[in-house]
This record gives sequence, C-alpha cells and structure tokens, in this order.
Amino acid sequence: MNCILDSRDFETIREIAFKTWPEAYSNIITQQQMNYMLEKMYAITSLQHQQGNLGHRFILAIDENNTAIGFASFSTVENQSNHHRLHKLYVLPNQQQKGIGKLLLEAIYAEIKKNGNGSIELNVNRYNNALAFYQKLGYEILKEEDIDIGEGFFMNDFVMLKDV
Ligand SMILES: CC(C)(COP(=O)(O)OP(=O)(O)OC[C@H]1O[C@@H](n2cnc3c(N)ncnc32)[C@H](O)[C@@H]1OP(=O)(O)O)[C@@H](O)C(=O)NCCC(=O)NCCS
Repeated sequence: MNCILDSRDFETIREIAFKTWPEAYSNIITQQQMNYMLEKMYAITSLQHQQGNLGHRFILAIDENNTAIGFASFSTVENQSNHHRLHKLYVLPNQQQKGIGKLLLEAIYAEIKKNGNGSIELNVNRYNNALAFYQKLGYEILKEEDIDIGEGFFMNDFVMLKDV
C-alpha cells in the first residue's frame, strides 16, 4: 500500500468513491443526498483541504497490477493522547470481502502504534452493512449521532471506538 503524495491520487480516490458509494448507500440515503455528500467530500479541492489543512492522512490500496482498489483516511484528534479518527474507508465493490478493508485498517493501526498504544474512532451510518464489519473487527458502539450536514440533509450515525 502507498501513501498519497500528490493530487493525481485524489482523482483516483474520487473515482473509487463514486464507484463505491451507490452500492453502499443507495438504500440508505437519497440520490440527492449522495450527490451532495460526494461533491462536498470528494471534490479535489476538498480532498486537498482535508490533507493540507485538516491533517488527514490518506492511504491507497494497490493490487498486484498496480491498480488502486481502495482507500482510507485518518487523522489524530487534537489534545487527546494518541487518539485518532477514521474519516474514510472504501473498497471497490468487486474487490470487497477479500481482506482489503482489514488491511487498510491494519496499516493505520501500524501508524498509530508507532507512538505506543492508542485508539481510533469513526462514524458509520446506523443502517450501513459496514456496521457489522466494524463490530467483527472489535469496534464498539459509543453513541448515536445525527449530524446536520446542510441543505436539509442529515447523517444518522453510530460513533464507534477501538483500542489499538
Ligand atoms: C466495509 C468495507 C470497507 C469492508 O472492506 P472489505 O475489504 O470488504 O472487508 P474485508 O474483506 O477486509 O473483511 C474483513 C472481515 O470482516 C468481514 N466482513 C466484511 N464485510 C462484512 C459485513 N458487511 N458484515 C459482516 N462482516 C463483514 C469479512 O468476512 C472478514 O472476516 P474474516 O476476517 O473472518 O475473514 C467494504 O466492504 C466497503 O468499502 N463497503 C462499502 C463502503 C462502506 O460502507 N465503507 C464504510 C464507510 S463507514
């Protein structure tokens, strides 16, 4: 797996997101909300802002043919000792259930552990199949959170936490 170094990779991340979101979210949120969120979170300028200004670190999963098949992003949480937040984790639909999501998370845990024991939290939609994936990997539900993301749209999430 490679770390993102320049904005050409953000084009790749954007493409993977646009291929992955419809299958993951079409039964959960409206098409309008999906379009709104994709543009808000995956415009190249937004991805650059996340990396450059918000300190998000991106990891790309590359297969044996040098093709990008998934990505993740995470950052440290300010003023909390070795505590982190997972912002994104997406694997192309035809590459799911092959261990890639777990590998991406393990790459993040390895980064966290460079500073000793730590923890990582995330938000997942309460109706997303990924909830069971995170539970299987040892994440625990901390609380529910309904987040107003503008334009009348909400994210209806669980906040989950895992020690690493
Ligand atoms: C959720 C996601 C990242 C998981 O990645 P993945 O590569 O498909 O999962 P893995 O193959 O690494 O699975 C790891 C383990 O979790 C299990 N698992 C995977 N998806 C699961 C699910 N939906 N429910 C229950 N278990 C699941 C696997 O069987 C595997 O178990 P094993 O270690 O005993 O073999 C991926 O399916 C995805 O991108 N989904 C759509 C987007 C999404 O919802 N992302 C999360 C946003 S918060």
